[in-house]
Amino acid sequence: MRGIRGDRVAHPAETPKAGNPVPEPDVTAMFDSIAPAYDRMNSLMTLGRDAAWRRAARDATGLRTGDAAIDVACGTGKLAALLAEKVGPFGRVEAVDLSGEMLARGRRVFRDLVQLHFSAGNALALPFGDGEFDAATIAFGLRNLADYEAGFREMARVVRPGGTVVCLELSLPRWRTYARLYHAAFRRVAPVAGALVARRAGAYRYLPDSLDAFPSAEQLAATMRAAGLTDVAYRRLTTGVVAVHRGRVPPRG
Ligand SMILES: C[S@@+](CC[C@H](N)C(=O)[O-])C[C@H]1O[C@@H](n2cnc3c(N)ncnc32)[C@H](O)[C@@H]1O
Repeated sequence: MRGIRGDRVAHPAETPKAGNPVPEPDVTAMFDSIAPAYDRMNSLMTLGRDAAWRRAARDATGLRTGDAAIDVACGTGKLAALLAEKVGPFGRVEAVDLSGEMLARGRRVFRDLVQLHFSAGNALALPFGDGEFDAATIAFGLRNLADYEAGFREMARVVRPGGTVVCLELSLPRWRTYARLYHAAFRRVAPVAGALVARRAGAYRYLPDSLDAFPSAEQLAATMRAAGLTDVAYRRLTTGVVAVHRGRVPPRG
């Protein structure tokens, strides 16, 4: 599959984990509050790597000129804009999020991309019909959903058979000592950076907390399979602090 080299196949014995316990309205209020600083914080905390990670997610979709795609939990629209450039002006990209403030920034920044539309919507009940899209993506959004498997199932529902579902998420490196060090550093740095740049230390404590309970790359692949996706594969990026997962929507039975 284009864009995912060095794929690993999900281990069937991995047990999928359920979802984010923080209530949806609290998650949305938190993202509304950090929207003005979100992009700056992203670049700062990833040392600018986030752009390359989103490009890897775009490439994993296999989208072509004229295709239709949906970016779920789109935030300020950075991945949606990359998809829009890929499908071109005769394609279509729908960018969906629950945070009005994040959507407002996306609409403002990417107003020149005529093929890109932003709308309010819940990842767990997307306002689109079955099989409308060639691909669905979610970048750093899955961790926020109350039910990860239901999130994948809903993305699969709106994608045509043979189309792709792609997830870009923070992950934990495979090497345990490094993973522990990385996690400890993230736990300390995120709130400090949040306090300095976004003036929201609390919100940036949520980030490492949400990573605590998040599935490993193997478990996430198992969750995609449980949601009915096939050919599930993933690729770790930047020493495994991030992973891109890709699955295919099977023929409807
Ligand atoms: C960490 S941001 C990621 C934004 C963007 N995808 C990116 O790559 O930067 C997570 C986004 O998920 C959105 N979100 C959280 N729960 C959601 C849900 N149930 N439905 C839709 N969007 C949701 C938040 O509002 C927020 O904009």
